[in-house]
Amino acid sequence: MKSHPLFTFLYPFMVFLSVLSSSNAGDSLSSGQSISDGETLVSSGQSFELGFFSPGNSRNRFLGIWYKITPETVVWVANRNNPLADSNGTLTISNDEALVLLNQSKSVIWSSNSSGTLRNPVAQLLDSGNLVLRENSSLSSDEYSWQSFDYPSDTLLAGMNMGWNLATGLERYLSSWKSADDPSPGDYMFRLNRQGLPQWEMLLTDSVIKYRTGPWNGVQFSGASVEPSPVSKPTLIYNASEIYFTYEPPSKGVITRVTLNQSGLLQRLVYMNRSATWDIMYSTPNDLCDNYAKCGSNGFCRINKAPICNCLQGYTPKSLEEWDVLNWSSGWLLETFRVKLPDLIDFWLDKNMSLDECKAECLRNCSCVAYANSDVRGGGIGCLMWFGDLIDIREFHGVDYDQNIFIRLPASELDAIQGPNKKKRLIIIGIPPILGLFILAVAIWIICRRRRLKGRGWRSGKDNFDLPLYDFATIAAATDNFSSRNMIGQGGFGPSTRGKEIIEIMITQGNLSVDQEVAVKRLSKNSGQGLEEFMNEVILIAKLQHRNLVGLVGCCTEREERILIYEYMPNGSLDHFIFDQDKSFSLTWKIRFDIVMGIARGLLYLHQDSKLQIIHRDLKASNILLDANLNPKISDFGLARIFTGDEKEAKTSRVVGTCGYMSPEYLFNGNFSVKSDIFGFGVLLLEIISSKMNRGFCHPNHHHNLLGHAWLLWTQGRAFEILDESLYDSAIKSQVERCIHVGLLCVQKFPADRPAMSTVASMLGSEGTVLPQPKQPGFFTETSLENYNSTSNGEDYHTNSAVSITMPAGR
Ligand SMILES: *[C@@H]1O[C@H](CO)[C@@H](O)[C@H](O)[C@H]1NC(C)=O
Ligand SMILES: *[C@@H]1O[C@H](CO)[C@@H](O)[C@H](O)[C@H]1NC(C)=O
Ligand SMILES: *[C@@H]1O[C@H](CO)[C@@H](O)[C@H](O)[C@H]1NC(C)=O
Ligand SMILES: *[C@@H]1O[C@H](CO)[C@@H](O)[C@H](O)[C@H]1NC(C)=O
Ligand SMILES: *[C@@H]1O[C@H](CO)[C@@H](O)[C@H](O)[C@H]1NC(C)=O
Ligand SMILES: *[C@@H]1O[C@H](CO)[C@@H](O)[C@H](O)[C@H]1NC(C)=O
Ligand SMILES: *[C@@H]1O[C@H](CO)[C@@H](O)[C@H](O)[C@H]1NC(C)=O
Ligand SMILES: *[C@@H]1O[C@H](CO)[C@@H](O)[C@H](O)[C@H]1NC(C)=O
Ligand SMILES: *[C@@H]1O[C@H](CO)[C@@H](O)[C@H](O)[C@H]1NC(C)=O
Ligand SMILES: *[C@@H]1O[C@H](CO)[C@@H](O)[C@H](O)[C@H]1NC(C)=O
Repeated sequence: MKSHPLFTFLYPFMVFLSVLSSSNAGDSLSSGQSISDGETLVSSGQSFELGFFSPGNSRNRFLGIWYKITPETVVWVANRNNPLADSNGTLTISNDEALVLLNQSKSVIWSSNSSGTLRNPVAQLLDSGNLVLRENSSLSSDEYSWQSFDYPSDTLLAGMNMGWNLATGLERYLSSWKSADDPSPGDYMFRLNRQGLPQWEMLLTDSVIKYRTGPWNGVQFSGASVEPSPVSKPTLIYNASEIYFTYEPPSKGVITRVTLNQSGLLQRLVYMNRSATWDIMYSTPNDLCDNYAKCGSNGFCRINKAPICNCLQGYTPKSLEEWDVLNWSSGWLLETFRVKLPDLIDFWLDKNMSLDECKAECLRNCSCVAYANSDVRGGGIGCLMWFGDLIDIREFHGVDYDQNIFIRLPASELDAIQGPNKKKRLIIIGIPPILGLFILAVAIWIICRRRRLKGRGWRSGKDNFDLPLYDFATIAAATDNFSSRNMIGQGGFGPSTRGKEIIEIMITQGNLSVDQEVAVKRLSKNSGQGLEEFMNEVILIAKLQHRNLVGLVGCCTEREERILIYEYMPNGSLDHFIFDQDKSFSLTWKIRFDIVMGIARGLLYLHQDSKLQIIHRDLKASNILLDANLNPKISDFGLARIFTGDEKEAKTSRVVGTCGYMSPEYLFNGNFSVKSDIFGFGVLLLEIISSKMNRGFCHPNHHHNLLGHAWLLWTQGRAFEILDESLYDSAIKSQVERCIHVGLLCVQKFPADRPAMSTVASMLGSEGTVLPQPKQPGFFTETSLENYNSTSNGEDYHTNSAVSITMPAGR
């Protein structure tokens, strides 16, 4: 036997097990054999173990399967509803070829559901965690007469098919444990609803919907932001015989599962070997808008707005008198973008219709209130129509498509929106009930109709979106006429340069009809930025919707003003924390790691997941803002550059950025690509770990910057020493080392050596992956860096302060 390090670790266990389970040391049980309490089956790859256990403080015994790791984590329970009171249970294969669990008096406590046609049955625990019953002669085949994967408990493992086998009627769903001591089915279920288009629903006590993912639209569930994640690739199989969801096993060494916890949270967890803990990668429901029908009927939930419940298109209330003067007689269709489709309660589906046919059909039928494509692939196909109230709509931005829905409005609304308001008086008498419902539905939007909706400047190509426009007077009033008392920063381009001057002012409880604190960014009139450029920037930012990007609340273009209104980040920017000795220790290692992961997710979205590929170009600690919960949000897209289609790299003669964060190829040659952002991210990562600035870093023994310092320590095997001393207590050594490693990979001199953001995110997120050795970082040998540092004098460095934002030409 090869002397593998793992072997020395496992050896004592193997002895221990073989003593206990003299008859069944292996992974299978054949007819006539049995296992009793204390004996176990272990899968061939040592991943899972089957045996008897007592959960939590309970004394009851259950037959279950658990991960063979510390802590033992149970993933499946056989006799959930029927515990054994003592340790005298046995598992065996009965005469009628089923797996049975017997108590001391040989009564059947639990039994598998088998057909009884096996001649030589064998039960085997597979390395996937699946307990299967099959013919001995066909040990290598996938034909099982029974498998535990068909009867999941609260845990979804790679390879499980969650959903329906339409041929046999078998449904596989998750149900939470009742408590940590009791694995019997608890309050929550997570099951696939196959009405119309398949969608997942989380149900409370079997009937009340708590959360749903939204219907499958050909690419993903239309409102589930959680998958795909770096550790799982989901698939939906959807044909006449089966509808199920499954995900591929993660890369080797990564241990991950999805569990429905007892408080009704569906969580993906990743096992951290060194600390022997499970880290939560995400939890669903994830925000308030995920709660089912949070905004009631016909409400539209937007997490970045305050209040979060809006009527569709962000309309603000219209006067009540106008209710009854509306012309309801014909429909107008309002297109609303980026949504999780409403729940399929009263609907109609044709998968073969085009959008135009769908529209015609909807307009023909007076109870149709909305329609959408049922499949967004290939430009969209299929027709989904809704009747009655629209329930549980939220703003949602898909991975690389937008799901749009067309909502019917009365004709008079078209006038109000499109042109001078020719009021039409029509008194509606004797409304039929169904029409009444419809009117009520639409009326709710109408009440909330935005007062003004102007702006052809708001369209770019076919990408349409909405963003509230505010009066200058409203903003001036809310900011106390841009009073310096409210000033929270003077951003980006100082008055000394010819560039745009930005004044950031904080408003508390402004008159903006929202109870939300916002930050107002007013660009000076001589900024040199035309309306079009400004609009481009606004369009760019408004299109970006991500938890880790600062959200745009509105804007104002009146009187040649250029004002952007952002959500206000009460904790300011990251640099104020990490580079400040007094505040630095308040960011513990865990918080810092979460910040790093947040920035990575935000950047991943910019680079890959949003519809446009965006290079930020000015990633730095002062552009990372922290919300009230210290969640990081990337801000300041003033320098961002959108890359079209297959463009991979661009060159600029105007090098604009911040010294210390710019990559060598960008600083010296003006070449930039996503890899320049990776460089900036690497610098930021090392700064977060060390609480020291790259620029202005100073060490008694050498003249290198922070990157050089980290590299020198790395080559001496002492990389851990760059960690800020105040974090020694809270730090998890393996995580810190991984972060330093990833940081050094990101700041490598040659762009091609640096990993892509998706790789960075998965390297940070899982301990399983083996990381390549970093090469020398950029600027390690260039002495010219010193010159750049001194000439720029610690100020932002730019050769030309003009802002370049380029929109892809309308296609
Ligand atoms: C399968 O059958 C063969 C021969 O009948 C036997 O030697 C072997 O032990 C059986 N395997 C299991 C797992 O029972
Ligand atoms: C049954 O289990 C209990 C402990 O749970 C043990 O004390 C008792 O001796 C067992 N009975 C037999 C017959 O093994
Ligand atoms: C075994 O189970 C049967 C049926 O549940 C029950 O009546 C019997 O008392 C149990 N025997 C023991 C020893 O627990
Ligand atoms: C076995 O399957 C049948 C239908 O195939 C189902 O009605 C029955 O409840 C199942 N029994 C168990 C114990 O799963
Ligand atoms: C449905 O899909 C499954 C998995 O791809 C496949 O095995 C099965 O044959 C399909 N059934 C039909 C009717 O297409
Ligand atoms: C479910 O998960 C959440 C988030 O990790 C945790 O706060 C909560 O305590 C968990 N609930 C139970 C019952 O374990
Ligand atoms: C209501 O709208 C329809 C279609 O736009 C129009 O034909 C009709 O004249 C309008 N009714 C009134 C009273 O304005
Ligand atoms: C779908 O529509 C196309 C043309 O519109 C037609 O040729 C095809 O037969 C239709 N398929 C079904 C299943 O109705
Ligand atoms: C509207 O469509 C629904 C579903 O197809 C149908 O039941 C209803 O009769 C239609 N109503 C009219 C007026 O066409
Ligand atoms: C983590 O532990 C599991 C189980 O012991 C092992 O299979 C895996 O290879 C380990 N991964 C790393 C990176 O050590």
